[in-house]
Amino acid sequence: MRRNKVTVVGSGAVGSTAAHWIASKELADVVLVDQVQGLPQGVALDLASSGPVEGFDLNILGTNDYEATADSDVILFTAGVPRRKDPVTGKFPSRDELVKVNQDVVGPVSEKLAKLSPNSVFIVVTNPLDAMCHVVKEVSGFPRERVIGQAGALDTARYKTFIAMELGVSVEDVHGIVLGGHGDEMVPLPRHTSVSGIPVRELMAEDKLQAIIERARKGGGEVVSLLGRSAYYAPASASVAMVESVLKDKKRVIASAVYLQGEYGYNDLFIGVPAVLGAKGMEKVIVMDLNAEEKAMLDISAKAVRGVVDVLGYGK
Ligand code: APR
Repeated sequence: MRRNKVTVVGSGAVGSTAAHWIASKELADVVLVDQVQGLPQGVALDLASSGPVEGFDLNILGTNDYEATADSDVILFTAGVPRRKDPVTGKFPSRDELVKVNQDVVGPVSEKLAKLSPNSVFIVVTNPLDAMCHVVKEVSGFPRERVIGQAGALDTARYKTFIAMELGVSVEDVHGIVLGGHGDEMVPLPRHTSVSGIPVRELMAEDKLQAIIERARKGGGEVVSLLGRSAYYAPASASVAMVESVLKDKKRVIASAVYLQGEYGYNDLFIGVPAVLGAKGMEKVIVMDLNAEEKAMLDISAKAVRGVVDVLGYGK
């Protein structure tokens, strides 16, 4: 029996952390690739050496050679330039300012990877996320089922974390979802948020809830301002949840950036919506019955995403 194979592109903070979780869950053999000589090899060797202690039994390879990625089941794409403080100006670039820089990384690399693993499912993490999903779809020629963006899984995790902290309850019992683009206009849905089925509004005052929504929206930025670089534990674990659902055909319902073709009233746009993730990739878009206020927020988010996507210059 052939083992599952996951290529993690980019062996930086998110890539190496994701590889760690893939290994610790013993999900698949892992190929780490990066442009920096020695980096993926070093990460792979270090991670592989934890196998005897942690008890996972996998092939973990680090390489600068894309040929080694051939026939991967999943490509987890994290390569790119993250938000970092400019040492001269002391300013952080926005996600959107990174669009051109990361288009030039994601385009050529994902084109190569898609040729070597023509049946793979891409899970894209590089920001600006929704735009980078467009790049992968464009250059790979893959159907929309096999290009999925990791955004909602992370945004939802942050939202749930803040609710659990505020209420002093287990994160395991907080349920909810965040839609929209992976930006400050993302759309947390309090009407669909509960603690063990109890609507969150029965447990928390509206001002507290709104403060949490605002904090979730700015959750990435909060980490950046503390760490001086973008987050990696939560982005990596959210990505690995998606990888796991695909590899194990779990059909989990995870908010994911999906190329919409009419759903929610949007066309030819990647935006975060609930999706069923299984062996075929994005197997189904779940269309929620949003009220006017929720739809208006989603429209604002979609408009922001469209603005970034337009920078790519693909036309429609
Ligand atoms: N080919 C291969 N690897 C590349 C290329 C390229 N053209 N360009 C950059 N990389 C690699 C870098 O060498 C680096 O090791 O991508 C890696 C990125 O790692 P980090 O700089 O540590 O960034 P990270 O924190 O992992 O974030 C990666 O995920 O959450 C998003 O916003 C984040 O877009 C960013 C991405």
